[in-house]
Amino acid sequence: MTRVRIAPSILSADFAKLGDQLAMCEQAGADWIHIDVMDGRFVPNLTYGAKVIETCKRCTSLPLDVHLMVVEPENYFDTYAKAGANVLTLHAEAAPHLHRQIQRIKELGVQAGVAINPATSVSAIEEILSDIDLLLVMTVNPGFGAQKFIESTVAKIEHAREMLATAESHALLEVDGGIARDTIQRCREAGADTFVAGNAVFAAPDLAAAIAELRSLAGE
Ligand code: DX5
Ligand code: ZN
Repeated sequence: MTRVRIAPSILSADFAKLGDQLAMCEQAGADWIHIDVMDGRFVPNLTYGAKVIETCKRCTSLPLDVHLMVVEPENYFDTYAKAGANVLTLHAEAAPHLHRQIQRIKELGVQAGVAINPATSVSAIEEILSDIDLLLVMTVNPGFGAQKFIESTVAKIEHAREMLATAESHALLEVDGGIARDTIQRCREAGADTFVAGNAVFAAPDLAAAIAELRSLAGE
């Protein structure tokens, strides 16, 4: 099985100390930094864009995993690739021309990810599984940090893992939302390899210990 990747989400970081917190994540052995871009339209919340991606790029050498919770995501690909995104993940629900959009992300030299909401079936993106670098199965409804993990998504992760195998896809299988001490193990057993964690990392008294604990619970 693919090695475990832990991707702290800066949505729960203290923005007054963002540089320090990114350095702490890197020192603690985090694999990626997850950046949640929300536009107040696809999701009922508004966060940050290119300026914050550029800032993260200056503060860390970790790959930047950019999660686009926006309508018309193609409007942001060029700017965010230039700002330093290493992975650009768009939502299937916001992308009627997913195949074309994935090709465009790849042309920019960036890894292409597709995210699906809890109500979207993996079958909806079956035809492009072999084209993508990452499949993000949302384990909460997107928009906010620190929400409760939706239990029924565990079976969906298993299903996604089977469908990736059938499609002979090498895409990473990422989970996002409510990933914490009590949920990460089940997600790993179901086949996830990449774990986004916001609250579980940044609200912990010791960020480094929290990352180490998540990694060990995921079996590494
Ligand atoms: C939710 C975001 C997540 C969020 C996860 O819409 O996509 O990345 O930061 O936060 P936690 O880990 O606190 O559930
Ligand atoms: Zn996210």
